Amino acid sequence: KNIALLAGGYTGEYEVSINSAKNIAANLDAEKYNVYTILITRNRWFYQTDGELIDIDKNDFSLTLNGEKIKFDNVFITVHGTPGEDGKIQGYLDMMGLPYNTCDATTSAITMNKAYTKVLVHTIVNLNTAKSVKLFQHDMHEVGIIAATLKFPLFVKPNNGGSSVGMSKVHSVAELPAALEKAFKEDDQILVEEFIKGREFSRGIARLHGKLVVLPATEIISSKEFFDYEAKYTPGVSQEITPADLTDEQNKIIANILKEVYVRLNCRGMVRIDFILQENTGDFYFIEVNTTPGQSANSLIPQQVRAAGMDLTAFYGDIVESSTS
Ligand code: DAL
Ligand code: MG
Repeated sequence: KNIALLAGGYTGEYEVSINSAKNIAANLDAEKYNVYTILITRNRWFYQTDGELIDIDKNDFSLTLNGEKIKFDNVFITVHGTPGEDGKIQGYLDMMGLPYNTCDATTSAITMNKAYTKVLVHTIVNLNTAKSVKLFQHDMHEVGIIAATLKFPLFVKPNNGGSSVGMSKVHSVAELPAALEKAFKEDDQILVEEFIKGREFSRGIARLHGKLVVLPATEIISSKEFFDYEAKYTPGVSQEITPADLTDEQNKIIANILKEVYVRLNCRGMVRIDFILQENTGDFYFIEVNTTPGQSANSLIPQQVRAAGMDLTAFYGDIVESSTS
């Protein structure tokens, strides 16, 4: 099978995506798959060979190498953020009739939007979410109103972001303007959310050959103020404990919540859900769902696959074979 592995993207997660693609390419079974890594940038979609950049023909999503036209059987998207996590590439591939590994265009578009996703999981899955306010760039931002509506500390984040790019934790009204400015550099919508004190976790789920597979949970203990970009990608700055220290009962409850979210949001492929278990109550607080979660060698999903005693090559093979169009 010819596989187009899509990496890159238009956001601050470009490098993260390149590292995800490297690990996926290294772990896709070379006997079964010819993998072509295609870089998606604003100006060009291209394949790189011997220092030469060869453009994808966007009319039929093909590649011409040495006079030979290559068509793809499957697309493996690992672009984090736009245009690979928010439904744009998914919509294009739907038009091309090509099977791909992620959620469809609609679910990708909704889940990229943290605020809309919170409304959905709160209303249709009845999950707790942190109290929040969403701001648009063209609105007036009365920091006093935010302070009157929400309790500090607060998280300020780009509504459509990832990897904590543009995100801040703020402790007082005085810190709000700088945090808003930083987040608005990344996105024209931002989310201001109350901090939920508790243990932070992230856990993957995938539908493989029609069957839902919930991976072991990871607990995240950041030595920084929160699990920011540096804590996420600098070895040693955070502790990621996989499998997390949870009781069988807790694991079961969480697995059921994840399945419910996955099914009700009509997810496909592998997704990773971030959540907090609140300190005083033990209640589950949904943070967000990541529909193209990081796949570098040390990323959470590969950790969880290994902790489950599964082989990453077999897992990625199952993802490819479970792709639909
Ligand atoms: N947005 C990053 C890649 C993640 O969720 O893993
Ligand atoms: Mg995320």
